[in-house]
Amino acid sequence: MEQELIQIKEKALAAIKAADDLTVLNEQRVRYLGKKGSLTAILRGMGKLAPEERPRIGQLVNKVRADIESLIEEKQTALKARELSDRLATEKIDVTLPGRKRELGHFHPLTLTLNKLKDIFRSMGYSIAEGPQIETDYFNFEALNLPKDHPARDMQDSFYITDEILMRTQTSPVQARTMQSHEPNSPIKIIAPGRVYRRDDYDATHSPMFTQVEGLCIDENIKFSDLKGTLTMAMQQLFNDDLKLRFRPSFFPFTEPSAEVDISCVMCHGKGCRVCKGTGWLEILGAGMVHPRVLEMSGYDPQKVSGFAFGLGVERVAMLAYGIEDLRLFFDNDLRFLKQFC
Ligand code: PHE
Repeated sequence: MEQELIQIKEKALAAIKAADDLTVLNEQRVRYLGKKGSLTAILRGMGKLAPEERPRIGQLVNKVRADIESLIEEKQTALKARELSDRLATEKIDVTLPGRKRELGHFHPLTLTLNKLKDIFRSMGYSIAEGPQIETDYFNFEALNLPKDHPARDMQDSFYITDEILMRTQTSPVQARTMQSHEPNSPIKIIAPGRVYRRDDYDATHSPMFTQVEGLCIDENIKFSDLKGTLTMAMQQLFNDDLKLRFRPSFFPFTEPSAEVDISCVMCHGKGCRVCKGTGWLEILGAGMVHPRVLEMSGYDPQKVSGFAFGLGVERVAMLAYGIEDLRLFFDNDLRFLKQFC
């Protein structure tokens, strides 16, 4: 049995030394030390030995076992170290390769234009109000002095969802919403930016969805000259200091008097060019003094307060500010276009 043990030990040590990777090494461990391994078999056979032999052989088995184990451990450390250095050698990162750049996002030109407008009006004491894009007939029309069947509704061909609900055709409903959420007759100075919808073509100058900025200022003694002064200052800040404004009489059911407001052409400064079609003027705003009935319907007393309102087309402003000739570019999401506003 002693002889057998020595043989096992020699074979095991040789096999372990020869093991060239961790899998083979593990196989050897199982083969010699495992439950069905040769050493275990010897231990099991010890019962057949003479009792006085047992301690000696038992010690010997333990010694062989310890020798094998320590060699396995040594070998394992060496193999692991080799594996690591192999990986380090093959998995080297080539730091000379150019890095992958993460693209930085940026604002859409309409957002840039809206931000400018917000800054300008904020600096004049206006706050930002918002209203829903899906609006009731009441706020979109009736509260703005456009009762059902009023012919002026035809100026805005609308997307109705039900008889009483539609995609808002203008930001003006925010006027009535704001008044109704305030104490009657309390002063209001808001702008309301947002999307509006009208049935329309989709071409270089038309879109069934576009963006407006509504303005509303109500207080005691607000006059048409306040409207003129406010819009002149805002447009001069937006484009240039020598810009002129022209007010042409117009009609909106919710303002009286009403005006279409033109600015002197920002391209030719009023001399006449392709953009202003030779007129020197660009139509850019609708405006007027808030109609007494509109004040009344939202709980304000036209005897005590007055106000002005205006509506500005944001796409138009952005096209002029950036020299963009086709409205569709704003909505087509072509990165070649959008990247120019980084
Ligand atoms: N809501 C009008 C439009 O969309 C613009 C406007 C707003 C006119 C406020 C007067 C006052 O055409």
